[in-house]
Amino acid sequence: MADYVLAIDQGTTSSRAIIFDHSGRSVSTGQIEHDQIFPRAGWVEHNAEQIWNNVREVVGLALTRGNISHEDLAAVGITNQRETAVVWDKNTGKPVYNAIVWQDTRTQAIVDELGGDEGPDKYKSVVGLPLATYFSGPKIKWILDNVDGAREAAERGDLLFGNTDTWVLWNMTGGTEGGVHVTDVTNASRTMLMDLDTLSWREDIAADMGIPLSMLPEIRSSSEVYGRGRPRGMVPGVPIAGILGDQQAATFGQACFEVGTAKNTYGTGNFMLLNTGTEKVPSENGLLTTVCYKIGDADAVYALEGSIAVTGSLVQWLRDNLGLFSDAPDVEYYARKVENNGGAYFVPAFSGLFAPYWRPDARGALVGLTRYVDRNHIARAALEATAYQTREVMDAMNADSGVDLTELKVDGGMVANELLMQFQADQLGVDVVRPEVAETTALGAAYAAGIAVGFWQGESDVTENWVEGKRWTPSMPEDERERLYRQWKKAVTKTFDWVD
Ligand code: G3P
Repeated sequence: MADYVLAIDQGTTSSRAIIFDHSGRSVSTGQIEHDQIFPRAGWVEHNAEQIWNNVREVVGLALTRGNISHEDLAAVGITNQRETAVVWDKNTGKPVYNAIVWQDTRTQAIVDELGGDEGPDKYKSVVGLPLATYFSGPKIKWILDNVDGAREAAERGDLLFGNTDTWVLWNMTGGTEGGVHVTDVTNASRTMLMDLDTLSWREDIAADMGIPLSMLPEIRSSSEVYGRGRPRGMVPGVPIAGILGDQQAATFGQACFEVGTAKNTYGTGNFMLLNTGTEKVPSENGLLTTVCYKIGDADAVYALEGSIAVTGSLVQWLRDNLGLFSDAPDVEYYARKVENNGGAYFVPAFSGLFAPYWRPDARGALVGLTRYVDRNHIARAALEATAYQTREVMDAMNADSGVDLTELKVDGGMVANELLMQFQADQLGVDVVRPEVAETTALGAAYAAGIAVGFWQGESDVTENWVEGKRWTPSMPEDERERLYRQWKKAVTKTFDWVD
């Protein structure tokens, strides 16, 4: 009897494997970080082969630690950092270049040229996204333009593209020996190459970017059997039956199935998604229109998304680049030593600013400094930055949907930070709610896979398993809340026009 579902979460900083039981509880995990490669200012890369090796290792760890055999697994689900582009040779299985990560800004010139006179909204009504360095399409073009022989090989049909979901799936299902080259609608919706209505690749946009269609994976639903683990792999014969981009997976795992429900995930960046049902809603306020999920043959469900590039990674930056503390969670310890931010505001526009501004010309700024400001205030300003940025996207969401959110479900690493969560509720002016199982990203992918093979019956099982863990209620006086936010908004304007 297969009692479990395995989820692989191939994230920006690490790869994790989590095994869930039927009640949605995590019974065993494995996690390994991979290298963050910064060859130049604004460039961010990962080694895709290292990522694949880590995925194999974490799956092994989770199985061993849980004393679970692959025969106990009903299915495997995959979730992933979205947009990060891997291009590899299908004959050798070797990537032709490092994976270009979603935070990487090297494609700005490509993006400007593609927009031409029509500007950044050229493809927006079709793909739901503004032209920006964030998305996969321009990254693929950069690789084809800059890696020796890549364009010729792509035109011969030798190269394949995938986000890391596709890279992991292809390798798990056999690689050069019959690997399945597939992605799901949520990942495809982050490439700038998929039509949101037809859920198929747009030949004209691919042609504009010089990307041969033969490189692109087949687009499938988020919940169906794509293939099975290869015979000599970690999960031989087990159906791989769910794929969701990590933010969509968290939305699914948080049981945001009703139109108007939303979640916010606190990872390296923050991503708020609002379920808009089977209607795609165009944004007037700097949000993205994206696919939320598609379960088998059912209609696709769409979402509005507020993407913030830097939140948790600001804390990592304080740890790694400034040495302000040695463990990321210590940020709370220092921030708690002071009553307030001491007048300091930290706008972490390290990859420009994403939602709701989409300002590639912005760069990070720490403003409001006096000699009074110390390490504790900076720690506090870094946490506050996460909350202010979240308020900005929530305001945009309320404006786009015409309905104010009444509470926000949260998940991700930083929701363990009590100071941040209380400050978040104070800034939003609505309750912030954390579920009992905070691993909602992996859980969402597990549900998608489990539903495809009948391990779970459908969304109702997910809703039934969702249990509230903790709730934070706003308590800050209104004038203080607004004063802080006004100062933040002023700080944001200081980051503009930095890059010519
Ligand atoms: O769009 C980028 C997002 O999918 C990355 O998420 O959690 O890996 O930082 P995360």
